Amino acid sequence: MDIEYVRSRFIKHFDGSTGAIYTSPGRINLIGEHTDYNGGFVFPGAVDKGIMAELKPNGTNKVRAYSINMKDMVEFGLNEEDAPRTSWARYIFGVCREMIKRGVEVKGFNTAFAGDVPLGAGMSSSAALESTYAYALNDLFGEGKIDKFELAKVGQATEHNYCGVKCGIMDQFASVFGKKGHLIRLDCRSLEYQYFHFEPKGYRLVLVDSVVKHELASSAYNKRRQSCENVVAALRELHPEVEFLRDANMDMLAEVKGKVSDEDYMRAEYVIEEIQRVLDVCDALEKGDYETVGQKMYETHQGMSKLYEVSCEELDFLNDVAFDCGVTGSRVMGGGFGGCTINLVKEELYSTFVEQVRKQYYEKYKKIAKIYDVVIDDGARRLA
Ligand code: GLA
Repeated sequence: MDIEYVRSRFIKHFDGSTGAIYTSPGRINLIGEHTDYNGGFVFPGAVDKGIMAELKPNGTNKVRAYSINMKDMVEFGLNEEDAPRTSWARYIFGVCREMIKRGVEVKGFNTAFAGDVPLGAGMSSSAALESTYAYALNDLFGEGKIDKFELAKVGQATEHNYCGVKCGIMDQFASVFGKKGHLIRLDCRSLEYQYFHFEPKGYRLVLVDSVVKHELASSAYNKRRQSCENVVAALRELHPEVEFLRDANMDMLAEVKGKVSDEDYMRAEYVIEEIQRVLDVCDALEKGDYETVGQKMYETHQGMSKLYEVSCEELDFLNDVAFDCGVTGSRVMGGGFGGCTINLVKEELYSTFVEQVRKQYYEKYKKIAKIYDVVIDDGARRLA
């Protein structure tokens, strides 16, 4: 994606003048899935794919937004009742509203944006969109007074209040805080975070996109979250100090067996194990022990598939192919229900794996898996 391209579209669709250009990335997550809204740990990094937007105040109280990819123009006001119907525009509207709620005097602006982060692939295209606008509006109308954590929360609140997804903080956090060559371990309870240099010698991180879209999965996502909350409520009767599943262990969980549904129990089991896996992976990384990192990734896949039930046939198949090829680690990434697997692949296995996965996936599903090499990049920023 390049600045000149976005700029040329901005000039063409508005009054010929130019504005300020911002970008924000999508993310990967090495491990720690569905742990963020349980107060646990996540381990994401920003990628070199994202959203780029040009914005210029237009002296009115209306936003005129153009999606370059969709070739679609939408206009909306800035009051609560002005919510647009078009789904992509709701994200921008939601960000405007959330910034206004935080005291930023957002006025009308013209904007055009484009993205190269694949939609519905589990790489957080929506967080990239939210963070781009949160960062931009803070810069243009807020004198930068909203801090970075709050910008991430603006994106999260947009999902909750305007898009119907009760997501955690991971995606928006990674999109805002990303740093080239680094993964970030975030404690979602205390919001403490630590950058880990990540350039695994002799390995590559590869995403295999099943091209199964997960867009319709928001209700299933919210249901998972509800299950976790049900278990927390049961745990609190015995252990009032428990606020999140993060505060529980397997022994405590066993105490509420029979008091929660079998399904909710399985969900909690996965989450408690997954929170521990993030810590184990961080330890292994510090020792350069990629075999353990990979093994934990496979365990996560099993958990997401069998206990949390957010995988799908195609993703399980991609995971099996990776295993059969001797790939070090592989698992479904992000919320699940479609999207990508993330794979830790030895350099010398890379070409064989990519060739095999493409071939076998096509033979089985008649779908063309897309391959993305992960490059870990910087977070939200102004470009021009
Ligand atoms: C989605 C959500 C995140 C997180 C992941 C699963 O990407 O937006 O908050 O819960 O799913 O780890």
